[in-house]
Amino acid sequence: MPSHRPTPPDCPATPLPPLASTLVAWQRQHGRHSLPWVGSRDPYRVWLSEIMLQQTQVSVVLDYYQRFLAHFPDVAALAAASQDDVLALWSGLGYYSRARNLHRCAQAVVADHGGCFPATSAALASLPGIGRSTAAAIAAFCFGERCAILDGNVKRVLGRALGFAGDLAQARQEKALWQLAEALLPETGIEAYTQGLMDLGASLCSQRKPACDACPLAGLCVARAEGRPEAYPVKTRKLKRGARAHLLLWLDWGDRVWLVQRPQAGVWAGLWSLPELDTEAALWSLTAAWPGEGRLLPPVVHVLTHLDWRLQPCHWLLPADLPASQRQAIEAGLPPGRWVLRADTLAMGLPAPIRRWLEAGPPA
Ligand code: ADE
Repeated sequence: MPSHRPTPPDCPATPLPPLASTLVAWQRQHGRHSLPWVGSRDPYRVWLSEIMLQQTQVSVVLDYYQRFLAHFPDVAALAAASQDDVLALWSGLGYYSRARNLHRCAQAVVADHGGCFPATSAALASLPGIGRSTAAAIAAFCFGERCAILDGNVKRVLGRALGFAGDLAQARQEKALWQLAEALLPETGIEAYTQGLMDLGASLCSQRKPACDACPLAGLCVARAEGRPEAYPVKTRKLKRGARAHLLLWLDWGDRVWLVQRPQAGVWAGLWSLPELDTEAALWSLTAAWPGEGRLLPPVVHVLTHLDWRLQPCHWLLPADLPASQRQAIEAGLPPGRWVLRADTLAMGLPAPIRRWLEAGPPA
């Protein structure tokens, strides 16, 4: 197989019939068939699995997927839910814009498509939160459409098999790889082929130390022939990461905790959290007249795609018998929120570190 280095965007795609048929045969024999969404042609179930599986491993998704379906068995039930209930069921899966888009998408399917997902990748890609690759996966699995997927794992599988040396940080190179992905599609068996690409990318063709000796594509893989599978795919641009730090006020009053709902935009949008303060000075000024005293707890660094976020919790326990007037004076100075029974918090949409703290309770 010829190496593609660097591939001009208008390069005619090289036909590679063995790749598709080999992958189809491999998937039918060795692919993952026991996953609950594999083999389904129900667009709601397939769509939900594809969104959950973005940036998240199968082992993590499985429980969330079943719980979500039990609460929202179809797209109409999801569309009718409150955003709070959707975020609560998503809580812990991360990348919460996925959950908000999921909810918006369900509402669009009900409002604009009579409650049925549209049956082409092009129409699916116009819905909230469904990108080109996800739309293609749904259309291939549910409607048998011959269309190409190209998520991160598939870029790696095809990048290696083809020896695609173009820099995927460049839009024209990414476009070229899309064209190659389309040219490689099999005439029949699009479902097994699409699942096979995913399964290979999630197993043998791993980012580090790929298991080339066991790979069905070993005989035609350019990267393997070159002896450097880990050199592909090529992507030069490094994400510029930032850092920031905040204090989180963990305020208990008896068996209740003060929670605030985060704004609809930004990190943890729409989730319930502890009040956030910029500095320790702001904390001590807010709490100067409060009974008792605050305890700074060990900070955690929450790693986001673009940011390392240092979160320093401060625990403050107000006595259960605090006079109402004093409690109201404290509430007036806090960011708007509400007291929630600690036992009730765990059913809410909470960011993962906050959930862990509240679950464990303050350290003795
Ligand atoms: N990752 C993305 N889509 C997937 C699927 N359908 N099965 C397994 N892993 C996946």
